[in-house]
Amino acid sequence: MEIKTLRGIKDILPVEIKKWQYVELNCRKILENFNFSEIRTPIFEKTELFIRSVGKSSDIVNKEMYTFIDKGGESITLKPEGTASVIRAYLEHKMYAQEQITKLYYFSPMFRYERPQSGRYRQHYQLGVEVIGTKNFIIDLEIFILITTILETLGMKNFEIKINSVGCNICRNKYIEVLKESIFSNISSFCEDCQNRFKINPLRILDCKKDNCRALLQKGPFIKDFLCSECKDHHLKLIKYLDFFKVKYVLDSFLVRGLDYYTKTVFEITSPFLGAQNSFGGGGRYDKLVQELGGNDISCIGFSFGLERLIQAMEKSNVNFPEKKEIEFYFVYLGEKALEKIIELVFLFRTKNYYVHFSYENVSFKNQLKQANKLGVKYCLILGENELQKELILLKDMEQGIQEEVSLQNLVKKLEELVK
Ligand code: HAM
Repeated sequence: MEIKTLRGIKDILPVEIKKWQYVELNCRKILENFNFSEIRTPIFEKTELFIRSVGKSSDIVNKEMYTFIDKGGESITLKPEGTASVIRAYLEHKMYAQEQITKLYYFSPMFRYERPQSGRYRQHYQLGVEVIGTKNFIIDLEIFILITTILETLGMKNFEIKINSVGCNICRNKYIEVLKESIFSNISSFCEDCQNRFKINPLRILDCKKDNCRALLQKGPFIKDFLCSECKDHHLKLIKYLDFFKVKYVLDSFLVRGLDYYTKTVFEITSPFLGAQNSFGGGGRYDKLVQELGGNDISCIGFSFGLERLIQAMEKSNVNFPEKKEIEFYFVYLGEKALEKIIELVFLFRTKNYYVHFSYENVSFKNQLKQANKLGVKYCLILGENELQKELILLKDMEQGIQEEVSLQNLVKKLEELVK
């Protein structure tokens, strides 16, 4: 019986991969310009890392982790997200001793046992970005400028950056108490999920997408009215600078994130074209995570793009992805001697960085030309025993149907002229 992929995961085939490479290449270039360095952390970690960072009350830790006991009896988890691993690596390799501010990025698959649906996979890819080492709001501003630069460079139209502040542990806890009090008397009017959230993680009630729950929350209380002076100051300064630099954003007092480590600034990037899973990126500040994982009091901020969703949003907003590169030269041969020469030429031109092709099978002259036509090749180079004896090759312009003789000695120069 044929074996197929598991539910909720997918292959990325050659027809799609050009789009992925286009996104990856552009992101890398911009990130390096913004002075970020790449980091690659392992695909699995000790389970405890995610429990201590993403948090016990999060859906990820509660329901979605791919956790198993390895042959040594250790509990291992496939990375559901990248921030925890990066901070683990930062501490393990004492990266704080090298620079005051560490700016890192990564491309990595992530694993979450979620209910599969459009835009939601059990293995998805993220581009993640983390800045470790400062609580200055200027770095929050830089992150928003970075996100906007990436999306505009990729040709994305129609995206929205939603921003909120979830305060620090102190002001957030005060807000949660007031929120619980305000909800308590009519908790039965909320959906079943929210009734559960009320017990485990009341803040996430704000995130409920159901109309009825959203209506019940419209009158507040709102976290912005409970922020302590430091959190409020951070938020207001950021907003002021975003306006000054004309970065487009929308304030959303209902925005809370699904991971427990966030403090102060949180944000999500959405596309109107993605349906229910409309958020293709998200992140925020996490000023306490380094400490919680055993380090010093070091503040951080970061975000991730979900690459499947980002690419889908780009497709739906009609981004012009680069076309597949056209084969420059197709070598056609007649006879075994000619084939030997062709092989030599093909590999010579490949090492010279030309995109060349020939038929591996000994098919007829007519069929080779047919294949070249099918591939949309611009020039064919034709070699038979006759040409070989005269040390020349026929160069055929497939668009114009014109043919000329080129001496094998001059071939490199001639082809250089043609692709100039
Ligand atoms: P997250 O919001 O959980 O944040 O995931 C980031 C992005 O990954 C989401 O916006 C979404 O586009 C994509 N994503 C998440 N789950 C799935 C899924 N099941 N299928 C397809 N795409 C998905 C984080 O993971 C944080 N580590 C982001 C961060 C970095 N915060 C600070 N630094």
